[in-house]
Amino acid sequence: MKKFLAVMMFALMLVTTQARAAEFEMVEYSAQVKLQWLAAAGIPEAQKFLKLIERPVFFNADNLDDFERLELTNSLYQELNMQAAMEFVRENNYKNVMDLACSLSPRAMILGDEGRKVAVGELQTVCLIGDWCLEEFGSKKAINNVWYDAYWLQDKAGMMASANKLKGEVCIIEQGVMIYLADDVRAQMYENLRDVLKKHGGCLITSDFTQKKYFTDVAAALYGEQNAATLYDETKAMYERVFDDKIADDLQDEQEALEFLKTHGLTARKVPLFNKPPKLYISKKLTPAQLQAVNELAKKDYLWVITAL
Ligand SMILES: C[S@@+](CC[C@H](N)C(=O)[O-])C[C@H]1O[C@@H](n2cnc3c(N)ncnc32)[C@H](O)[C@@H]1O
Repeated sequence: MKKFLAVMMFALMLVTTQARAAEFEMVEYSAQVKLQWLAAAGIPEAQKFLKLIERPVFFNADNLDDFERLELTNSLYQELNMQAAMEFVRENNYKNVMDLACSLSPRAMILGDEGRKVAVGELQTVCLIGDWCLEEFGSKKAINNVWYDAYWLQDKAGMMASANKLKGEVCIIEQGVMIYLADDVRAQMYENLRDVLKKHGGCLITSDFTQKKYFTDVAAALYGEQNAATLYDETKAMYERVFDDKIADDLQDEQEALEFLKTHGLTARKVPLFNKPPKLYISKKLTPAQLQAVNELAKKDYLWVITAL
């Protein structure tokens, strides 16, 4: 009887796991692609999430000509983004974080484990899988402190309702999302963000207004200036295959971006990605010369700290 029950339990677990993994089929592939890069960088949480959702990696050497260089460049870029945002939160001692459209977020789980409240804003399907990853791998502290709220970034009430669950100033992280959004959606998202910052205080951090230069510099640190533009173009083409539409790399001019922010009642200051050389999982895969170039890059002002006017 005991054996029968154990078999039944196992079968039930298997069915549940498969059903939940199937939900991920419907999610924007971008959520999975980001995990692929973070897993390749060596982030343990990303590796566990990817294993749990049971999907073959989206890009590989069979479908991308320049896969090896693209993988290292994108993995480094994603790890720098992830770690820089966490360092900013720690150094400024933010107790409340909103991680916007961050897909399945290793970052949220780590910050939650440090005792910070983290509200992740995502699409409904990503939220379901995000909660599942949290239940599977989160510490007790992370499970208590992190939650996924389902809302569109252009949904004013949805974003504010999520912010209202946090008490005190908020650090909002927005990375790698606005570049995919249509102009009207992006404008509405910034209107919503301004309202949240006016009500709650705090700031929004993003590297999206510098992403073209920043990504190109990441590629240059790994493969030299002469290859950097090609790697940027190849990455853009790769994402356009996933998203089936154009990635906007407008608003990369500083003055234009500041004007855009001003029209939405916001202002920005630039800060270095890191104030000290970052500790990166991906370091193990880099040569000493690449590592030195990455440490130089880490000092540059790619991060914008945006506040309400
Ligand atoms: C490339 S991933 C985001 C990367 C992530 N923010 C980071 O820090 O690396 C894009 C995510 O945006 C979500 N997304 C796309 N459009 C959205 C929208 N209009 N509202 C909310 N989430 C959206 C997708 O589900 C996906 O997980």
